[in-house]
Amino acid sequence: MYRGTFAVVDLDAIRENVAAIRARLAPTTRVLVTVKANGYGHGAVEVARAAVQGGASYLAVASVEEGIALREAGIQTPVLVLGASTYESAMAAAKFQLDVTLTEDCLDWPDVPLSPPIKGHLKIDTGMTRLGVRTNEECVRLAQWILARSDVECQGAFTHLACADAETLHHAEQQIRRFQEMLGILSNVGLHPKLVHAANSAAALRRLDWQFDMVRIGISAYGYAPSDAFVPSVSLKPALNLYSFVTRVHTIQTGESVGYGATFTAPRVTKVATVPVGYADGYPRRLSNQSFVWVKGQRVPVIGNVCMDQLMIDVTDVDEVSTGDCVTLYGHRAPSDWTRQNLSHYGIGTDEALEWLRTTFRESAREEPVLSLDELANRLGTISYELMCALSPRVPRIYVK
Ligand SMILES: Cc1ncc(COP(=O)(O)O)c(C=O)c1O
Repeated sequence: MYRGTFAVVDLDAIRENVAAIRARLAPTTRVLVTVKANGYGHGAVEVARAAVQGGASYLAVASVEEGIALREAGIQTPVLVLGASTYESAMAAAKFQLDVTLTEDCLDWPDVPLSPPIKGHLKIDTGMTRLGVRTNEECVRLAQWILARSDVECQGAFTHLACADAETLHHAEQQIRRFQEMLGILSNVGLHPKLVHAANSAAALRRLDWQFDMVRIGISAYGYAPSDAFVPSVSLKPALNLYSFVTRVHTIQTGESVGYGATFTAPRVTKVATVPVGYADGYPRRLSNQSFVWVKGQRVPVIGNVCMDQLMIDVTDVDEVSTGDCVTLYGHRAPSDWTRQNLSHYGIGTDEALEWLRTTFRESAREEPVLSLDELANRLGTISYELMCALSPRVPRIYVK
C-alpha cells in the first residue's frame, strides 16, 4: 500500500451475482464458478469463498497447480481442472481430490491404476475446436476406456459453447444439438455421468433450457456481461475497482510534451498529474492517449504513453487537484475523503485504515461505477476478461465483505 495503488474487490458483489444467477435455476441445478487465472484477477481463494457463500457448489481452475492452491487454502468444495490432463497431472490431481477433464489423450495413459482414484469429466468438442472428443468413434472409445478403468470415476460430461454471447444463438444451438447426440452415445455404451454441463455465463443468463445438471459461470460472477450482444437477465454488480493517489501536479507550457516518445504535446498551458500505476500493474500501454480516469468528481484524459509504473493525466480543468488525491482507474468512484493524507492518518497497512477504506467504499458502491472495464476493453478492441486477468500480483487487493 505504500505506493498508493490498490484494487478493491467487492466480495459482496460476487456473492450476490452468484446468488442472483443461482436463483433463476432449478433448485437441483448446481452452479460452478470458474476461479482460474487467480479468480479472473480478483484473487482465487477469496472469490472461491464468496462464490460458495452465494450458492456455488463447484469451482473450476485451469491447471492442477491452481487447484492445489485452493486446497492448500483449506477450500474443500469440488474443483474441476478444465485444462487437458496428462497421467502425471492426474496423479497430482487425485492426491488433492481435484476432478480432471478427460479427453482422447487419456487413452495413452499407462495401464497403471491411479491411487487414489480420480473423478473425471468427459469433455466433448461440439464446435469450440479446443479440447475433447469430436467424433462418435472417439466418444465411444473414451467412454469404454473410462468404463474399463477402476481408477476413473465418471463424475461428469461437458462441452463448451463458443458463441453463446453472440447476437444469434444459431452456433450455440448447433453445439447443444451435437452435445445431446453425444450424450445419447454415452448412454448407449452404458456410461452415465452424474453431472452434465454446458452453459457458461452467457448461456446461463440466456437459456434456462441449457442448464442441464450444472452451469459453469465466470464473468457474470465477477459482475460483467459476457458481451454487449444481449442484456443480462439479472442485474450484475462489478466487483473489481482500481485506484491510485496522485504523486505530483505540474504545469507545462503550450508545446511541451508528456512521457516516453513525447506522444502528447500540450495544446494549451496544461496541468499534468502523475499517477503511480502503469502497464506492469495491468493498465495497458495501448490505452496511452486513449482513455480516461476519474479524479475529484471529474473524468479526465490519460495523456502521453502509459509507462511501466506510472501514467500522466490532464487535470487542467479540475479545481484544486493536488498530490495525494485519489484517482479511479476503473470501477466505483473513489469516496471524496480518499486521499493519501487521510490514509496516512489511519496508518498505511493498519486494520483501522482497511476498515475505513472498506466502510467508505461501501457507500460509493451504492452508485453505478464511473468507469467500467467494458468501456476500456471496447477502446482496446478486447474484452473485460482480459483486463481483469491483467491486474498484476503486485497490486494489493483490499477485500470488502
Ligand atoms: C470450459 C469453461 N467453462 C466455463 C467458462 C466460464 O465462461 P464465462 O466466464 O464466459 O462465464 C470458461 C471460461 O473461459 C471455460 O473455459
